[in-house]
Amino acid sequence: MKKVFIRTFGCQMNEYDSERMYALIKDEYILCAEPKEADLILINTCSVRKKAEEKVYGLVGRLKHLKKARPEVIIGVCGCVAQQEGDKIIKRLPHVDMVLGPQAVYRLKEALDSVRQGKGPVVDVELRKEFRQPLIFPSLNGTAPVKAFVTIMQGCDNFCSYCVVPYTRGREISRPPEEILAEVECLVRQGVREVMLLGQNVNSYGRKEKNFPTFAELLREVAKIPGLWRVRFTTSHPKDLTLDLMRAIAEIPEVCEHLHLPVQAGSNRVLKAMNRGYTREEYLEKVKRLREFCPEITLTTDIIVGFPGETEEDFEETLSLLETVRFAEIFSFKYSDRPFARATQFENKVPEEEKARRLKKVHELQEKITREINESFIGKEVEVLVEGKSASSQEMWAGRTRSHHVVNFKGPENLKGKLVRVFIEDCGRHSLRGKFVRDLCKNAEISVASTNTGDPFLFFGTKNENES
Ligand code: SAH
Ligand code: SF4
Ligand code: F3S
Repeated sequence: MKKVFIRTFGCQMNEYDSERMYALIKDEYILCAEPKEADLILINTCSVRKKAEEKVYGLVGRLKHLKKARPEVIIGVCGCVAQQEGDKIIKRLPHVDMVLGPQAVYRLKEALDSVRQGKGPVVDVELRKEFRQPLIFPSLNGTAPVKAFVTIMQGCDNFCSYCVVPYTRGREISRPPEEILAEVECLVRQGVREVMLLGQNVNSYGRKEKNFPTFAELLREVAKIPGLWRVRFTTSHPKDLTLDLMRAIAEIPEVCEHLHLPVQAGSNRVLKAMNRGYTREEYLEKVKRLREFCPEITLTTDIIVGFPGETEEDFEETLSLLETVRFAEIFSFKYSDRPFARATQFENKVPEEEKARRLKKVHELQEKITREINESFIGKEVEVLVEGKSASSQEMWAGRTRSHHVVNFKGPENLKGKLVRVFIEDCGRHSLRGKFVRDLCKNAEISVASTNTGDPFLFFGTKNENES
């Protein structure tokens, strides 16, 4: 067998695409841990912030010597930077053999054949009009993970003024519901217990297609699949969060009480310049309604600091929004100019040091809120889906609550893939700690498919390299 090295940057959609790329070639290649051992090197790239893109150029640049020593090695740059740069990548880095945009990764085998036949570099950055990803049933060979991603749509039509994604992933296209259901069923048959449905804006699922279900209807269908215990989804756009979806989250037992709802900024002036399509008041009203439907819901968000023209007062409004909503966790970023994005042309750019100062303030405030929320779990019992041994200690099990909090705990053997109750005794910055109370699977008489004891499938031993 030949060897492939895969490195993935960016969001979960890229992780999903990398898994699919590997599934396409796994009869021919096994995974390896170092580029120097590989016959094929695939770098699945992210372009959402400048730093992510720079990392890719650094990494691919360093592969030049390897290609010189072993010219038969095939190097592919895939994903969002590939789409954005196209054949400029080959000009700048002539040792690259393939440039495949996110919609072309499913053509990996054809691209490889072409390179092997000596036809020169392949650049495929065509943006298609339909969801053309072939249905690749993942075969997990008895090593099913506890949870898995399933892409339900690609692209984005929102054109937030800072964002490159509509240019790298193309227009929003929903995947046919039959395909989604077939893929989830296949995963569950093999032992997967939790799925995360993926898209840049999942709650506008199906809107552009004829006779497609709404996202809330899709959730209901997915949740009916026997053996699937938990359903999550990301990302939801606040402007498309309907009452219907709030009701679905509250009513469907399998849908976990956690919503990632990126707000980006707290000031209406900035939100308008970002082209987000909602005001601060509308966002807060939706949060209020959601909490009425589902009082125990946990919210997380994304924040950008230092958007062009963001004043100190605007920034203070972001801080006050964080205090008002009290998100359990946030992902915060310094604004960065991106190719094609409108905000790149905006005036009044905020200096780098000021962006850094604002980011630090956001971190400090959020750390306090996260700690308070984590502490509120102490003394309570929670339901945990056990994903495996804890990263920090083989003595401890690790899993997540329905609210998406990480829990580490001591317990009996063979808990992987089980739903258990855990009593929370303590907490750290990013996780809760507790002790095993009981195995819910036995009580509920649910049979757990013989999942694995071996290596976690997610993610084939390759690591996601999100820079933030
Ligand atoms: N579709 C999702 C997320 C897309 S990218 C959404 O609409 O929320 C993930 C996050 O990266 C964004 O939520 C935003 O906070 C951040 N981001 C995107 N472009 C950025 C830029 N140019 N500079 C800084 N952060 C950015
Ligand atoms: Fe980017 Fe906005 Fe689309 Fe999210 S919704 S991917 S931030 S354009
Ligand atoms: Fe995802 Fe990065 Fe592309 S966040 S959509 S891999 S630009």
